[in-house]
Amino acid sequence: MTGVSRRTAIGGIAAATALSAGGTAKAAQTEKSASNLSSPPAFAGRHLPKPLSFDPAKLVGLSERLIMSHWENNYIGSVKALNMIEGRLASSLKDNAMPAIVYGGLKREELLRTGSVILHEIYFGGLGGNGQAAGNIREALIANFGSFETWEREFRKTAMALAGGSGWCILSYNHHTASLHNYWAWDHMHGAVAGAPLIALDMYEHSFHMDYGAAAAKYVDAFMRNLNWEEIDRRYKASVRS
Ligand SMILES: [Fe+2]
Repeated sequence: MTGVSRRTAIGGIAAATALSAGGTAKAAQTEKSASNLSSPPAFAGRHLPKPLSFDPAKLVGLSERLIMSHWENNYIGSVKALNMIEGRLASSLKDNAMPAIVYGGLKREELLRTGSVILHEIYFGGLGGNGQAAGNIREALIANFGSFETWEREFRKTAMALAGGSGWCILSYNHHTASLHNYWAWDHMHGAVAGAPLIALDMYEHSFHMDYGAAAAKYVDAFMRNLNWEEIDRRYKASVRS
């Protein structure tokens, strides 16, 4: 394992420690100085990575090496990039000579990295369970899809539509329509308007290639076997209440 240790990833150690442990002390210092501590929250650049809520050595069919590589490189990489972009937005806003179209490039990156951070936190936070659906969310899926099996069949089919190498399959509670849907998302910026993600299945190759090569269906099987439905039920109840 490289970079952040498993203990750091799951042990509740301050996320700031994880962030700096992921690179050299020099890199952490550079990030700290790049973030303007006097900036308002929108530009603060002080997002911290969340530790894993499970032991990555104990998932079924998803290796510790795969999970740690994904968490360290892709997820923490996005947290760092988002912090950097927010700092650049703050400084660029003060530059009256900067054309709006150039500023727009930073805004695009802000949206992309924000989506990546949130979806990865939904992804990792939804793992560590026994894969057995229960609770209000199971009843709600039956009510919205006719049967649990129909929901799962459509979720898997939507995921496999993205098996070519990128995107997310997302079970969302749509606040506008007050209903559950499986949404297809081509990248981190795709998502149904007013949709609150309850399950996010990462279909980028980095999330499965190390264990399964191009056999994406086997990865989807493994993901489903590790779903933490208690957490998914909690997310559903929180979404319905809000
Ligand atoms: Fe990912």
